[in-house]
Amino acid sequence: MPETFEKVAIKITVNGKAHALEVEPRTLLVELLRETLDLTGTHVGCDTTYCGACTVLMNGAAVKSCTTFAVQADGAQILTVEGLEKNGDLHPIQKAFGDSYGLQCGYCTPGLMLSTYQLLERDHDPSEKDIRKAIAGNTCRCTGYQNIFKAIQLAAHNTRG
Ligand code: FES
Ligand code: FES
Repeated sequence: MPETFEKVAIKITVNGKAHALEVEPRTLLVELLRETLDLTGTHVGCDTTYCGACTVLMNGAAVKSCTTFAVQADGAQILTVEGLEKNGDLHPIQKAFGDSYGLQCGYCTPGLMLSTYQLLERDHDPSEKDIRKAIAGNTCRCTGYQNIFKAIQLAAHNTRG
């Protein structure tokens, strides 16, 4: 019989929507997002904290939600890929990934877009070195990265206005 744990009450705001929930202490943030809140844009691509497919922003900082407990997000603001689109309009980062062919299977893409979001919040004109550093925690198995760099450069250009 599976062991059960006493649940813990948490409050969490995801993509601007407040939630009051009860979670087991062992529940991972990615499980909460995908299985409780049905936000399946956040992916799980490994079991070693390596790939970054699970990247979300917690209070503006990129975290790997596969190795963050849901209780650690108590009181936090979380941004997932679903929160980038506004009123049916894609975010400039999403448009740039499409326009630059910065994805193939798309499995890594939500995490890459959140890491890009964090970068561009801090630096509107990042160098290639800055971009490489910003996405060092995100692994893409398909693209060879060149179009991802182009997408991030285009996103930076478009968000500078
Ligand atoms: S799922 Fe691979 S780092 Fe989180
Ligand atoms: S587009 Fe397939 S893993 Fe990156």
